[in-house]
Amino acid sequence: MGFNKVVVLGGGVLGVQIGLMSAYTGHDTTFWLRSESSIGRTTPKIERYSKLMIEDLLKAKALVGSPMGAFVYPRGLVKKWEGTTASDIDKLVEQARENFAKHVHIELDPSKAVKDADVVIESMSEDPAAKIEVYEKFKNLLDEKTILVTNSSTLLPSMFADHTGRPEKYLSLHFANTIWKNNTAEVMGHPGTDKKYYDQIVEFAGELNMVPLQLHKEQPGYILNSMLVPFLSAAQALWANDVADPETIDRTWELATSAPAGPFKILDIVGLETAYNINQMKPDAKVEGTLTNKMGKLLKEKIDRGETGVNAGKGFYDYTKK
Ligand SMILES: NC(=O)c1ccc[n+]([C@@H]2O[C@H](COP(=O)([O-])OP(=O)(O)OC[C@H]3O[C@@H](n4cnc5c(N)ncnc54)[C@H](O)[C@@H]3O)[C@@H](O)[C@H]2O)c1
Repeated sequence: MGFNKVVVLGGGVLGVQIGLMSAYTGHDTTFWLRSESSIGRTTPKIERYSKLMIEDLLKAKALVGSPMGAFVYPRGLVKKWEGTTASDIDKLVEQARENFAKHVHIELDPSKAVKDADVVIESMSEDPAAKIEVYEKFKNLLDEKTILVTNSSTLLPSMFADHTGRPEKYLSLHFANTIWKNNTAEVMGHPGTDKKYYDQIVEFAGELNMVPLQLHKEQPGYILNSMLVPFLSAAQALWANDVADPETIDRTWELATSAPAGPFKILDIVGLETAYNINQMKPDAKVEGTLTNKMGKLLKEKIDRGETGVNAGKGFYDYTKK
């Protein structure tokens, strides 16, 4: 293994998932957290997500031999589904428990946390000021060899490169939520990233059981959101303009393209708050009478009723009904 010590800055939803995937794949993994109270918030998340990962392995075991297995197995946890047996999965479960117990560490002291790190993954809140503060805090503490990556979804690495003290060894490595199932890793450098380190991060993503998806240049939204955001927005515009209802729009997409989920099912998974926040960033969101304004109002009505998507049990669809 090329990368031994991995450090994750931030113990939020994604930070915890990334750190656990790193430990699962046998890397010595340290979460740097800023305070004792952060430990109190992160520890239950570590427990929750490690349990979910093991539950998904056990669900996959029940699918061994079923044709459905190949479509729904957790791709980050089982490297190759074809030929996997129930006893292989038992071994993975045992290994996962051992690796989580052995390889996951929490450290509050910044210099101890990053000492001898091969890669540091910044996964803090999507707030430029907070990210800059942390880069400045760490820039003189990182070892010469350490490659620094950001998991930011919407901010470009060129915005921060000058604050890292190592622009040539700094780039984006962007994971998707529930990374043990949705194992994409978009790799994106900024103009000052050295190709040598970019290539090493592509290799590192593979070590984490992710599929590295390489971008040739900086792109806001990477590959996925550059396609997904306009697609979801077009569907919401059809709904807000009263052209068709969400079920009909979804059915059109699903029947015509054989896709398993239409845009409103995807919106329920993403969460309506996120869809609302993205809508409100558009320049005409506050202009009365525009379609964007109406889309915002319709989403807000649903959010105010608590219909925020799959996690709430209801969004565009009702998930409480069996
Ligand atoms: N949630 C997603 O679906 C998702 C998907 C892909 C990428 N991301 C990206 O991952 C990053 C983290 O997102 P998240 O959803 O895990 O956020 P989150 O809000 O769950 O967690 C953010 C973490 O950052 C810590 N933090 C904030 N300010 C800090 C500071 N000044 N010093 C130290 N720690 C600080 C918080 O305590 C928390 O642990 C963001 O850049 C986001 O764009 C999120």
